[in-house]
Amino acid sequence: MSKYFKAEITDNISLNKHFKILTLTPQSDIVVPQPGQFYMLNSNNTYDPLLKRPFSIFGCKNNTLSFLYRIRGKGTSCLSNLRGGDIIEVIGPLGNNYPEPAGDFIAVAGGVGIASLLPLLDKRKNTGYLFYGARSKDESVMLSEAGALSKETFVATDDGSEGRKGLITELLKGFLNNLKSEISNFTLPIYACGPNPMLKELSKIARERRIKCYVSLEEHMACGVGACLGCVVKTVSGYRRVCKEGSVFDSEEIVW
Ligand SMILES: Cc1cc2nc3c(=O)[nH]c(=O)nc-3n(C[C@H](O)[C@H](O)[C@H](O)COP(=O)(O)OP(=O)(O)OC[C@H]3O[C@@H](n4cnc5c(N)ncnc54)[C@H](O)[C@@H]3O)c2cc1C
Ligand code: FES
Repeated sequence: MSKYFKAEITDNISLNKHFKILTLTPQSDIVVPQPGQFYMLNSNNTYDPLLKRPFSIFGCKNNTLSFLYRIRGKGTSCLSNLRGGDIIEVIGPLGNNYPEPAGDFIAVAGGVGIASLLPLLDKRKNTGYLFYGARSKDESVMLSEAGALSKETFVATDDGSEGRKGLITELLKGFLNNLKSEISNFTLPIYACGPNPMLKELSKIARERRIKCYVSLEEHMACGVGACLGCVVKTVSGYRRVCKEGSVFDSEEIVW
């Protein structure tokens, strides 16, 4: 089955001024995606912008694929103008996926990073402790939906407009410090997607407590399929392509 296909826009719904959910219906048979994988999407059918943009799989049901995205620059602005019936080119699913947690786990999402983690929370319903950090209430997208799939939810925003004021990594530290001894740190791995400073701090927290930590990295991508080397990151075993060997890495592998 080819990973390159054309898809018809089913809908493109606004959640608020920043975020939308794009739903596509592939026009041919597709490979079923796993949580943590991503797709390269054309922003429209004019090839301007020329390069496809990467987006995590957010939902896959009834032969449709959905993507939660934040409007940032030209590509995502064009994406936001797509209407039902428009056709775009798609490549995916790409990259690796989150290793399946054996039991309970911690999911740490920064902003739109929830797009990558919600499918994992959905697949492993009520076994994930969700830590959700965002700049403000406006930016805490899909919080109630993700919370409904989680065992417990912790929220922090920079301005305190939703949840605790401060960094989500501080909330996580408090949670880990208060863990009862029967819930061993060793059996509660961290899965994370969000801004690099958050992932770097999580890596430090995990290392200090000897917790397994998987991070989904977001690098600028040109091809998305391992050919251009535009997305490499430095790891302890040399440079690795985020689009091919990632985007999910053991945090211990990354040279932060
Ligand atoms: C594997 C992967 C999965 C992703 N999943 C999602 C998702 O599910 N939802 C979502 O909203 N976004 C996701 N992104 C980020 C998304 O690809 C970018 O926001 C998008 O490409 C921006 O395109 P643009 O043309 O609108 O912005 P541009 O005009 O290219 O850039 C606008 C701003 O966004 C920043 N930016 C651009 N690309 C990236 C990137 N790859 N990572 C971080 N910052 C970037 C630029 O530095 C600039 O500040 C993902 C990125 C990767 C690599
Ligand atoms: S984006 Fe081209 S190698 Fe990763």
